[in-house]
Amino acid sequence: MCGIVAYVGPKDAAPILLEGLQRLEYRGYDSAGVVVSNKGLKMRKVKGRVADLAAVMPARFKGGLGIGHTRWATHGAPSDVNAHPHLSADERVAVVHNGIIENADQLRAKLEAEGVVFLSETDTEVLSHLIARTVKEADSLEEAVRAALKLVVGTYGIAVLDAERPGEVVVARNGSPIVLGIGEKEMFAASDVAALVRYTRQVVHLEDGELAVLKADGFTTFASDARETAKEPLTVDWDAGHYDTGGYEHYLLKEISEQPDTVARTLRGRLDDRFHIAHLGGLNMDARETRSFRRVKIIGCGSAYYSGQIGAQLIEELARIPADAEPASEFRYRGPVVEADTLYVAISQSGETYDTLAAVQELKRKGGRVLGIVNTVGSAIARECDGGVYLHAGPEVSVASTKAFTSTAVAFALLALHLGRVRDLSPAEGRRICDGLRRLPEQIKEILVLEPEIRELAHKYAGAPSMMFVGRVRGYPVAREGAQKLKEISYVHAEAYPASELKHGPLALIGPEMPTVAIVPDDELLDKNLTTLGEIRARGGRVLMVGHRVADPKLADDCIVVPKNETELDPILLSIPLQLFAYHAAVALERDVDKPRNLAKSVTVE
Ligand code: G6P
Repeated sequence: MCGIVAYVGPKDAAPILLEGLQRLEYRGYDSAGVVVSNKGLKMRKVKGRVADLAAVMPARFKGGLGIGHTRWATHGAPSDVNAHPHLSADERVAVVHNGIIENADQLRAKLEAEGVVFLSETDTEVLSHLIARTVKEADSLEEAVRAALKLVVGTYGIAVLDAERPGEVVVARNGSPIVLGIGEKEMFAASDVAALVRYTRQVVHLEDGELAVLKADGFTTFASDARETAKEPLTVDWDAGHYDTGGYEHYLLKEISEQPDTVARTLRGRLDDRFHIAHLGGLNMDARETRSFRRVKIIGCGSAYYSGQIGAQLIEELARIPADAEPASEFRYRGPVVEADTLYVAISQSGETYDTLAAVQELKRKGGRVLGIVNTVGSAIARECDGGVYLHAGPEVSVASTKAFTSTAVAFALLALHLGRVRDLSPAEGRRICDGLRRLPEQIKEILVLEPEIRELAHKYAGAPSMMFVGRVRGYPVAREGAQKLKEISYVHAEAYPASELKHGPLALIGPEMPTVAIVPDDELLDKNLTTLGEIRARGGRVLMVGHRVADPKLADDCIVVPKNETELDPILLSIPLQLFAYHAAVALERDVDKPRNLAKSVTVE
C-alpha cells in the first residue's frame, strides 16, 4: 500500500528512485512522484503508473539526494496534485508518506487559520507545512520532523528532504514500514525490501516510533524520545531476480507456476522420518507448553484468512483441538476475550497488514500467546509474535495471493502435525501425513500440466456475469478462496457458499446465467456433494466440478480432475486449478492481472 523510496549518495537519485518505485508499484499504483535536491528541490509527479512518471521526467534531473512515492489513494482522489511528494509553501521541505494522519482535518484547519494555503486534498500535506514551520529554527532536520510528528495522530512511514540540508534524508515509522538499505558510501530507504535488493542486501528495519537520519556515509537511528538506538543490520536472502517476471507474461502466472518449488521450500528440513513429526524450531515452545492449549484461534485478512480456515480444519482433524479462523480486521474491533489456554495464530504474507498487526498487538497487550505464519522475514508481524513458521516462499509480487496462500496451508499442515503428535495422533498417522506432504510438489506439477485445459474452461465461463462457488467442510475454504481470486482479478462477481447452505437461500440465484464451480473431493461427503450438483442441474445451472474423478455428465458440464492426496491435505491441491481458472478468466477479460483496480498488495492502513 503506497511505496516509498529514498536515496542519498554519489549517484544520480532519479533513476534509482524510479527503479525502486517500479519494484514497489504492486503496493499502490494510482499516482507516482519524485523529488531530488540540487540547489533547491526539483519535483515531478503524475496521476498514473510509474511508467507515466518516467515518461515526463526531463533528461537533466540531476541530484544525489531524493525521495519517491507510488500512491494508493486514501485522502483525495488520484490526481497530479494529490500525488506525493508534497512540498511546503516555500518549497524548502518535501515529504512522502504512507499511512493515515487521523487528525489531519484539525491540523489543516489550524494551519489554514495561520494563513497556510493547501494545494492538495491529502492528509500528508499537513506534514510538509508542519515541518516547514520549525525547520528554520531547528538545529537539525530530525528535530523539526520530530516536533511535527508529536502533533500528529495516526500511522505513518515518511521520508523528508530539506533543500537547505542537501546531504541528508530523514525517515520515520509508526505503523507503516520503513526499511533502511546500507550501501557502499550510499544509503537507501524504502517501505519494502523489494526496492532495495538490487542495490544492497544489508537492511535495517525501523521499529514503530523510530526515526533515522541517512547520509551517504551511514545512518543514525533514534527512539521517539530522541535517544540514539543501536541497530543490527540483517542480510535478506531475496534477490533482484525474485522480482522479475522470469519470462512469464504476468507475475501471477509466475507465482502460480513456482508452487512445486515454494511448497518444497516450506517443507524443507521440517519433516522427521524417525518420529513422523514436524520440526518447527521457530515456535519457541516446549512439548509441555504445546500440549497445554485447549483452543486455537487463527486470524488473517483476505486470502490469508481463507488459508487460515483450511488451517483450522487441519488442526481440528489432526490434533483434535477446537480451532477456528476469523478476519483479523473484525477480531481486533470486537473486544476479543483472550484466554491463556488458547493458541493464537496470525497469518500474513507481507507481515505488514495493518489490521493483522493491530490484532496481534491487541492480543499481546492482553497476554495472549501468538504465533505468526509469515512469508517476509523480519517483518513487523513476525517481530511482534512470540514465535512462528516462516513460509520461505520468496517474495510475492502479484496483488492476488497464490503461492503464499498454498504455503500457508502447508505450514498449517506442519503445525497441525506437530500439535497432533504431542497429543494423540499416532506415529502411523503422523507418517501418513508426512508422506502426503512429501507428495505435494509432484502433484502440483501434475495440476500445472492441466493449464491448457483450465484455460479453455476459463474462457468458456468468463462471460458469465456472476458465478457461484460451493464446497463442503474441507472444500468450503477452497470455494471461498476460488471466488475471491476470481473477483479480485477478473472483476466477475462471485459468491462462495457452503454446499449444504445452498438450498437455504442462494439456490434462488441459480439458473443458466449463473454457473457454479463445485469443489467435490473424494471424501466421506462425496455423495452429499453429488446430491447438491443434482439440485443445481435441476434448476438449469451449469456446473464445473473440481475434484478427484471424472464427473457424471448428468451432474456436471465440465470437470477438472486433480491428483488425490490424503483427505486432510486435499484442499491444498484443490485450490490450485482455481488460481489458474481465475488467472485465465482475467486474461480473457483483458484485466490488469497483477494490479487489479482499487486493490493493493499490502494494506498498511486500517
Ligand atoms: C490484501 C491483498 C490480499 C491479501 C491480504 C492480506 O488485501 O490484496 O491478496 O490476501 O491483503 O495480506 P497479507 O500480506 O497480510 O497476507
